[in-house]
Amino acid sequence: MAPNIPTTSDRWTARQERGMDGLQLDLNAAIPPIGPTSCLIKMAAVSLNYRDVAMLTGAYPGRFKGSMVPCSDGAGTIIAIGSNVSLYKVGDRVCTLFSQGHQSGFVTPAIRETTLGNKIDGVLRRHTLYDETGLVAVPDSLSLIEASTLPCAALTAWNALFGLEGRRLKAGDAVLAQGTGGVSLFAMQFGLAAGATVIATTSSDTKAERLRRELGVQHVVNYKTNEYWGETVRGFTPDQEGAHHVIEVGGENSMQQSLKAVRAEGVISIVGFLGGKPLAGQELCSFTDVLFIAAIVRGINIGSKEQFVAMNEFIDKHGIKPVVDGKVFRFEEAKEAYQYLLDQKQWGKVIVLALAASLLIVLSTVNILHRTPSRNGQHPLDIPYDQNNTVKSLGVDGHISALVLTGGDTYLVGVGKADVTGPVVEINFMGYADPNQLGSGVRQRLYSRAFIIGSTEVPEDRFAYLILDTQSGDTAIRNGILEALQDKGGDFAKLYGNQNIAVTGTHSHSGPGAWLNYLLPQITSRGFHKPSYQAIVDGAVASIVRAHENLAKGHLSVGTIDVLDANINRSPYAYLANPAEEREKYDHDVDKTMTVLRFTHTTEDGEKDIGILNWFPVHGTSMLGNNTLVTGDNKGVAASLFEKSTGNTDFVAGFSQANVGDTSPNVLGAYCEYGDEAGELCDFRTSLCGNKTQPCHGRGPYWGRHDAGTASNFEIGRRQFAAARELYDNSTSAAWTPVKGQMVRSLHHFVDLSTHSFTLPNGTLVHTCPAAMGYSFAAGTTDGPGAFDFKQAPDDPHASPFWRVIGNRVATPNDTQKACHGDKIILLDVGESDTPYQWSPNIVDVQLLRVGQLFVIVSPGEATTMAGRRWKGAVHDAAVKIASRERETSHGTPIVVLGGPANTYTHYITTSEEYSIQRYEGASTLYGPWTLDAYISLTQSYLPELFEPSGHLPTLVKGPQPPIQVNVSMSFITPVVVDRAPFFKHFGGIKSDVKPLHKPGDTIFATFVGANPRNNLRLDGTFAAVEQFDYVDKAWRQVRDDGDWSLVFEWKRTSTTLGTSEVKISWETGWETGDWRGDSGPSDAHGDLLVRNGATDDLRGLYRLRYYGDAKALGGSITPFESVSGEFKIV
Ligand SMILES: NC(=O)c1ccc[n+]([C@@H]2O[C@H](COP(=O)([O-])OP(=O)(O)OC[C@H]3O[C@@H](n4cnc5c(N)ncnc54)[C@H](OP(=O)(O)O)[C@@H]3O)[C@@H](O)[C@H]2O)c1
Repeated sequence: MAPNIPTTSDRWTARQERGMDGLQLDLNAAIPPIGPTSCLIKMAAVSLNYRDVAMLTGAYPGRFKGSMVPCSDGAGTIIAIGSNVSLYKVGDRVCTLFSQGHQSGFVTPAIRETTLGNKIDGVLRRHTLYDETGLVAVPDSLSLIEASTLPCAALTAWNALFGLEGRRLKAGDAVLAQGTGGVSLFAMQFGLAAGATVIATTSSDTKAERLRRELGVQHVVNYKTNEYWGETVRGFTPDQEGAHHVIEVGGENSMQQSLKAVRAEGVISIVGFLGGKPLAGQELCSFTDVLFIAAIVRGINIGSKEQFVAMNEFIDKHGIKPVVDGKVFRFEEAKEAYQYLLDQKQWGKVIVLALAASLLIVLSTVNILHRTPSRNGQHPLDIPYDQNNTVKSLGVDGHISALVLTGGDTYLVGVGKADVTGPVVEINFMGYADPNQLGSGVRQRLYSRAFIIGSTEVPEDRFAYLILDTQSGDTAIRNGILEALQDKGGDFAKLYGNQNIAVTGTHSHSGPGAWLNYLLPQITSRGFHKPSYQAIVDGAVASIVRAHENLAKGHLSVGTIDVLDANINRSPYAYLANPAEEREKYDHDVDKTMTVLRFTHTTEDGEKDIGILNWFPVHGTSMLGNNTLVTGDNKGVAASLFEKSTGNTDFVAGFSQANVGDTSPNVLGAYCEYGDEAGELCDFRTSLCGNKTQPCHGRGPYWGRHDAGTASNFEIGRRQFAAARELYDNSTSAAWTPVKGQMVRSLHHFVDLSTHSFTLPNGTLVHTCPAAMGYSFAAGTTDGPGAFDFKQAPDDPHASPFWRVIGNRVATPNDTQKACHGDKIILLDVGESDTPYQWSPNIVDVQLLRVGQLFVIVSPGEATTMAGRRWKGAVHDAAVKIASRERETSHGTPIVVLGGPANTYTHYITTSEEYSIQRYEGASTLYGPWTLDAYISLTQSYLPELFEPSGHLPTLVKGPQPPIQVNVSMSFITPVVVDRAPFFKHFGGIKSDVKPLHKPGDTIFATFVGANPRNNLRLDGTFAAVEQFDYVDKAWRQVRDDGDWSLVFEWKRTSTTLGTSEVKISWETGWETGDWRGDSGPSDAHGDLLVRNGATDDLRGLYRLRYYGDAKALGGSITPFESVSGEFKIV
């Protein structure tokens, strides 16, 4: 075979009537040579039928000898073809034909000898080889997973309804479909699309509700509680004469009722035998009954290829989406899938995936994304994702973890999450340092996620690790949190303090600023703004309280996975300055490994997953500098996708930053966007384009959309989520290292880095310097070039009007300071400036956490890739040494992670070699060339504290204290003066309403007379909501809120003088259907499993938009109001 064409493949084989033991996994079975008219298919998904299970249990009438590859229904992509193949080409997406020989016309005995999965080897394998005539092109509108359901169930339903000449189903007819199996669900969907009245039977009231609500079935009868359901069904037909078509799946036992339900000359299609054999003496229908009713009773044998093609056209035309069970099984889990079907737990078709699990996750998430309840638990679609459904294969929904645990120790563990969204409008965003980037609304609320780990023996031995959707941790914020915990008293005052609270930021550049302690980052945000600060403090404290209340005994385990496509190095020129022998130790110039800490609670039933906390470095700069909507950037997306994917509203997924300094999410590289060099890569050394900084910009995966980076951001978040989820779904002991050892320790010291002397490992005495910023700081980076034309190179310093003015207000560096900073040409001598108050921290937080063999470096700045590697390596080696000295052997090899920027924002931490290059990161390394080495030396010297016997929080504060400048900070941010509605209008009045009819993928919006959202931040609440009408309860339910990526709240001032404003609420459903990708997109994103509008069925319904506002009167009083849009349908 040609290169890259596999010669072996994995497959399952089945032996008849052996139960589940009859199924066997056969690895690397030989693939026969490709014949002239055959096609080799890489299978994506296999769909199970009742028949497949019945063969194992002995309930199936058809027989086969020996062993056989089971299953008939699958879909995949052709990867090789024989020399005479004319119908398909490589790359085509195809389904298998159930009876390979049934091309058209009637079935014959010879055709019956060609059925897959009992006469010919079936599809439960990773590769199949079939003649081209035995394949059918996949409908364009379906994904491969959806298409895998068509060959048997769909075609049988199609044949039953449209296969009999003269009796083809038409609009106005009535259809009865029995039960909610695969065949019947398709019959219902086809019937509804054709304009028929559809009546269904089921044994379950829950399913009855779903049939009505999700499919739109008009009438449902419970065949278990209503023994004589035939008459009832007849009564539901429009003329009460009976159904034109009956899909008979029960078999002999239900025929009597079917004859009551069918009309004269109506067709009963005998499809199945689910009701089993009749009991002796049981009264059945007779031929005479058939005669008197004049019914047409017809046995169905699947269908032909000709019918299959016609059916696919119908599916495309009507946008029919097969109902796929939320629980999708991996290839290795085929037995579980069979059992699941045997236990009749499914809703829709049961799928076994033949491709890698990571792609499955993508699918699940896109589907789950809009189905998951909002945090207030009010989502009306709760029922589809009940306990029997999505749970175990995806390891979700607060259910028992599939994790294999051996040898881990028990800890107290708890997780909590709370809203920290500050003022979403009129406040400068923190990150790009662009004073003009002011908030105009919210796409995604911001959160604090708290993870507490404690000893089960000593209550004081615990720590709380916080991840805020903010640009960084901060001295004032951390202090505010500590004070609030003290004020709470009780356990909060006793058990939490300076030593054991770590406050990290995800480094999002798309949240409100003006909350930082020091003057330098306050400058572009026009000072400090108490509401912005208070929202973060309050939310962070709430998350700690929730995590504390969630504490219970449980376990921790650590796993790692590589994420190759979510970050690149944006300063590779500086990275190359590191010694070659050091660089050679690594495959990449950024860290590609994500480390995941998994939290489980121990329950009577086993371990229950409650959260994950992971570390992976990528800048929060996916949302670009022209974005004005609040989001959690790519980490916010990843966390939200993960949490939603679990279906459990209490699950907390923390995506923490790591050695983020020189990483970028703009993975396509940095290009000149305009000017003479337009289209070329920016200069490697300086990131300049024709000697200019601003034309150079990094490109995210969806660069060029003019959407402020929104699509790229979602994609980079999704990639991190997909990796974390893939690891999470790998529950084997090989993937996870249990955390063990009863040591739960934390240390924290404030250190003054303006004058810290220490000895390098080579014996040289060095010292750090008062904080200072170099010229390249003002150049910005390729993620966000500076607003003024500074350059990332030290050899061409010049000042711009803005920073020149700023620079003139800070101290002038003296020769000692200049010499101390070495290669850095100082632009802002911030560490020596305290007028009117301190500009940047000189006193920094040195903090380490430890549980068992896991050590966390809590980094106060953005360590670059190599800086992080050196720091982690040093802590690792020191920990090994101390452990052997202390004879602490029970804990295993130390695992060291680095999280930050945390506790205070000290900008960047480069290696001394990178520092000498003085690109942005080097110029922003505050304390001179030995900054990193100082941190390493300090953490090494404090590390033995983490090996000391258990103790209490220290009562005495060690070392110097940083200034808390909350009460002295300046603010030029004006408060909201007044809100007024225009004449003859009221707050919330509709300015332009929604259109009444929409299709999935549309953006649906309305505008309202608004008021300033700064009047009430509505923490843990929402400004915007989508409400759906629940036809069962006859009530409106909130189904989306500000936490949902697809719902956008925008506010616009229409007259400053009058105090009027306008609010636009947009529901961008394309994010939920997959339409956001458009036609293009990175080819490696989804491959063939890209979900094409996979969620459309679920969006159908009646909705309205709601706006929650608060208006401020001139006297200062604030009055809440609400408003709803008109109703609209998604069809
Ligand atoms: N002739 C053909 O060409 C052909 C093709 C495909 C399938 N079949 C046969 O058709 C039958 C259905 O196949 P499927 O793939 O749709 O099966 P399935 O997906 O396994 O269907 C299971 C559902 O059928 C319903 N059901 C079970 N017993 C029933 C009964 N006595 N009366 C009415 N409904 C009952 C139940 O619905 P509720 O839970 O809602 O009660 C159950 O959930 C099977 O016997 C299968 O072998 C025949």
